Amino acid sequence: RAVIVSEEQIFALHGAALQRSLERAGFEVFRFFHPGGESSKSLAVFGALQSFLCAHRFSRSDAVFALGGGVTGDLAGFAAATYQRGMAFVQVPTTLLAAVDASVGGKTAVNLPEGKNQVGCFYQPRAVFCDRDTLQTLSDEAYRCGCAEVIKYGVLGDRAFFDSLAQTPIRAQEEQVIAHCVTMKRDLVQEDEFDTGKRRLLNVGHTVGHAVEKCSGYTVSHGDAVAIGMA
Ligand code: GLY
Repeated sequence: RAVIVSEEQIFALHGAALQRSLERAGFEVFRFFHPGGESSKSLAVFGALQSFLCAHRFSRSDAVFALGGGVTGDLAGFAAATYQRGMAFVQVPTTLLAAVDASVGGKTAVNLPEGKNQVGCFYQPRAVFCDRDTLQTLSDEAYRCGCAEVIKYGVLGDRAFFDSLAQTPIRAQEEQVIAHCVTMKRDLVQEDEFDTGKRRLLNVGHTVGHAVEKCSGYTVSHGDAVAIGMA
């Protein structure tokens, strides 16, 4: 059995394809929708998802599929990590930001009123399926948020990559850009899964960025906040 965790608007765009393919593979599929935005990374929504899993008699041998951006992945991942001490978890990122950063590396969390990502754990997804067709429906604003995370990888010391971003729009080299970022992230995470050393490089722009997000009441998006933090 599988549950697809998503926002209703995202599911309307891409959910049917995912559900069909899971059903063809033999899964009985359930859906859990959360409201859009950072407010869903809360203990309340986390609790509602846990209760949903329990009410539908999910067990450790079932799977959670996160269909969406970073908020969905962080929330669904933390729920999968903790429900009955852990069930299988798969990331299906539908934003550039989630494709190049949030869906890879196993960071899961929800926020507290006191701050962002204050409750969570490291829990690796069994797989990350990045289908670039899902990025076609992103608004320019949402796409730009992902670009901030992409530029981050250039800033982290890859001069050739940084220069290629300055020369060619990201949309025009999207597949190579995603592959490059995921490869860089994979290498850092393999070396330092639990963020005590080299992986912390990936937090460039995030320390100030998270403060900007929180102090704005999450009206400044994560990507914009990371861009401000890097600047
Ligand atoms: N977003 C930074 C990391 O996954 O380490």
